This record gives sequence, structure tokens and C-alpha cells, in this order.
Amino acid sequence: MKKGMEAIPSNWHEQIINLLGERIVVTDRKGTILYINEAYCEFLGTTVEEATNRPVQEVIENTRMHIVANTGKKELAALHPINGSEMIANRYPLTVDGELVGALGTVMFRSPEEWRMYKSKIQHLVEELKYYQTKVENELKSKYSFQDLIGSSQSFLAAKKLAERISDSNSSVLLIGESGTGKELFAHSIHNQSLRSSLSFVAINCASIPEHLLESELFGYDDGAFTGAKKGGKKGQFELAHNGTLFLDEIGDMPLSMQSKLLRVLQEKEVQRVGGQKSLPVDVRIIAATHRDLEKMVEEGKFRRDLYYRLNVIKIEIPPLNKRIEDIKLISMSLLKKLERKFFRTGIAISEEVEKRLMEHSWPGNIRELENVLERAINVLDGQTIKLIHLPLYLREMRSQCPNNGKRTMVEIKPAQKMPLSVIPLKETLARVEKEAIQSALAVTNGNKQEAAKLLEIGKTRFYEKCKFYDI
Ligand SMILES: Nc1ncnc2c1ncn2[C@@H]1O[C@H](COP(=O)(O)OP(=O)(O)OP(=O)(O)O)[C@@H](O)[C@H]1O
Ligand SMILES: [Mg+2]
Repeated sequence: MKKGMEAIPSNWHEQIINLLGERIVVTDRKGTILYINEAYCEFLGTTVEEATNRPVQEVIENTRMHIVANTGKKELAALHPINGSEMIANRYPLTVDGELVGALGTVMFRSPEEWRMYKSKIQHLVEELKYYQTKVENELKSKYSFQDLIGSSQSFLAAKKLAERISDSNSSVLLIGESGTGKELFAHSIHNQSLRSSLSFVAINCASIPEHLLESELFGYDDGAFTGAKKGGKKGQFELAHNGTLFLDEIGDMPLSMQSKLLRVLQEKEVQRVGGQKSLPVDVRIIAATHRDLEKMVEEGKFRRDLYYRLNVIKIEIPPLNKRIEDIKLISMSLLKKLERKFFRTGIAISEEVEKRLMEHSWPGNIRELENVLERAINVLDGQTIKLIHLPLYLREMRSQCPNNGKRTMVEIKPAQKMPLSVIPLKETLARVEKEAIQSALAVTNGNKQEAAKLLEIGKTRFYEKCKFYDI
């Protein structure tokens, strides 16, 4: 006997084989059964005593064991009908000291159905696994690079060049800019160009996570840290971002108590899970972003000064769209190209009137607002050229804007004007109305999401979810 089996007493072997649960038969070269296990006999309606030493053809219908024992050619996954059902059989020649001595046969499933069921279950799991693998991979990877950042105005190029230059550094970055100016794009691009680009990019939106969950989201928790905690604990975003980049979006919305905890992690470079004892070292590059005036918040005691200094090592201010009007045409063109691909269209142009109107608007929602306006236009477009009629009401009727500084003070929401629209499913119509209501609220609050949520009388978490859903 070969090494490995020697240690097992020989009277154990039979039980081990029976416990395997597979149906097993062994014949000599002539096809006489030398061994057959209980599971197989049970299925055949015989006993081990009755079956042993008999020709295999007499015991197992349609068998080919005697053939394999004679030819020495193995047969794998062969369909084998027994007792009216198809089985899956494997037949192997047995060779000892280079000489063919017999054959070993195993039967796996009672029927192909059973096998298919087994396979479909496994397949299901494999697919699920693949789905989550790509999901995690996508979520932990940055999606944009500097090429995606369009604009040739001086102020924008200065911000972009600075961001490119500091990509390789490990210092914290603070991205300041109004809503929709491209802070997220900048964060992705910086990570993408850094030495950490092949490692994780983890983004967390401090404003959208309920306050009581923020700590465990950031730092993770240990087994049994609180009721309902997942068994085995959970990794926090800091741990997930280890060796990579952690993007703390809407940092200005982080509650003061969390600010202290964040500061401690940044200083000590180690995290402690909620309910955990040990500290885990983390090497993370921080990129923080906000549309808020952090300096003012520091003065008002709403943001910790020491945290502000720690984050503000490299400050990048992204100019709002109304401070770079000369970029509007270029960005519109690039967005149109993107939208054409999305809607399988080509050759869409913008009329001169619309171009002029786009330059006059103050764009409180910045590039995101421009993107939404163009997407809406393509949806209602009847020809190839975007005209005034294809713009949302508030852009068609610029009277609703304050003439002095171009900032909107109120937005008229009138019943939709007659549009050359065909009937679309109710769900789509409702979604469109919901999206426009959110955009109008954001326009009124100059892009302030929390205030917009209040205006719409919905919670901020729901509001953020909806913004994400509608890509606002
Ligand atoms: N320079 C740019 N060129 C082309 N598209 C841009 C540019 N900047 C932003 N965008 C587009 O505008 C949209 C908003 O960008 P992003 O999400 O980065 O804004 P943000 O500053 O993070 O906004 P918020 O503060 O509301 O989260 C995105 O769809 C993005 O693709
Ligand atoms: Mg953002």
C-alpha cells in the first residue's frame, strides 16, 4: 500500500469508503465483482454478500465495467441507465505495478435531473460570487482619470494642473467646490494617477450616512459590538482602503464627535474597530471634499480647526461653471458626445439661441445641471438640433432669474408646457417629474442638498439615495 493509507488500520477502509456516500464497485480483469459498497447495493436492491464475486453484468444492468477492466480505457461522466433512471458513471482502469488488474467504478447522481439541480445550484453560487467580485472591484476602483476633466479656462486648468502635480504625493488633499463642479471626478483622477492606483479607492459620503452608523462604517466593528452586528464583525472603510485612497466626500457634514475620532485615526495611523480591543495599522491617503465654507465653519465652531489643518495640506479649489463661462461650449460638446453614445444617437447639434442661453444661465448645479439639461433635451428632441423648446422651463423663461447678479431667487414651477412628446410609461413619467422636482429644489437652494431635502420634506439619506439614482 502506498504511503498515506498505511497509517489507517485496514479494517477502517471499508467504513471510510461507505461514508463517502458515493456508489463504488471494483472488479477484476474479467469483470468479477471484488468489492461493492452498501450504498450501491441499496440502490440496486441487493446486498453486498449477494453481489460480491458475481460477474458485474449480472448485478448492474447496462454496465461497461468489464469492458473498461479489459481495455484499460477510462470512461468519465458517462450516462448510465439503471433502474429506469440515468446515472452519471465514472469508470477507471486499476493498474498495480504497471499491470492492468481490474476496474473501479463510481456512480455520482441518481439522475441527470439531480445532477442538473446540483449544477444549477453551484452555477448560481458561482454567478453570485462573480457578481459580487466585480461589484467590489468596481466599487474599489477609481472610474475617472484626468482626461475626463474637460475645460480650457485658466482657472480650471490651474486646478487640474495642481491636482495632476500632487497625485503622487501622500499628503491629504482638500477639494473645495460648489455642488456638481467635479469634486468626485478630481478625487478619482488623483487616485488614478497616483502610485496607489492599482490599490483600492474607497469613497464614503459623510452626509448620506446616518450619524449613528458613520463610526462603524469608517472604522468597522467587532463581533458582538452591538445588537444586530454581523457575525464575525465587519471591516470599516479605513481598513478597506489600506494602502490605497480614502475619499471622504462631504466632509463638512461630518458631525463634531466623529471629527475627533477621525482626527485621532489620521494622527495615529491606526484604527480600532467599534467594540474591538486591538489597533490595526492603516496606511491611507486621504482626499476630502466639500461644497461648504470650511474656514467659516471653523470660525463658527462647527468644524474642528485641528482636523481642518490636517486635511488642508493641499487645497484645490474647483471653479464653478459661472466663473468659467468660456468652458460651457466645450463641456456641452463633450457631454453631448457622451449622451449620444448613451442614447445611440449621432450628429446632435445645439442651436445658437440655446448656446447663448446656456452662457447666460448661472448654473447653481454646475456641470451636473448642464448634463441633466442636455440629457433632458435629447429625450424630448424631435430632430437633430437642440432648440429653446427642448430646454426645461426654468431655462426657457430666464425671467424667473434675478437680473442683477444672475443668481436665481425663485423658480417658477408651472405645469409642463405642450411638448412634442409621445406617451411614455407612467413609471418613467413619475421618475422624470421626481428628478425635476429634485433639480428645482437644488436650484432654489443653490445646490445645498440638505436644504433641498428639507424643502421637499424628505430625509437627507433618502434625498441622497434619489440623487444617486437619478445621477443628480
Ligand atoms: N470637468 C468636467 N468635465 C466633464 N464632466 C464633468 C466635469 N466635472 C464634472 N463633470 C460631470 O459632472 C457631474 C458632477 O460631477 P461630480 O459628481 O464630480 O461633482 P461634485 O463636485 O462631486 O458634486 P457634489 O458636491 O454635488 O457631490 C458628473 O456627472 C461628472 O461626470
Ligand atoms: Mg460629489
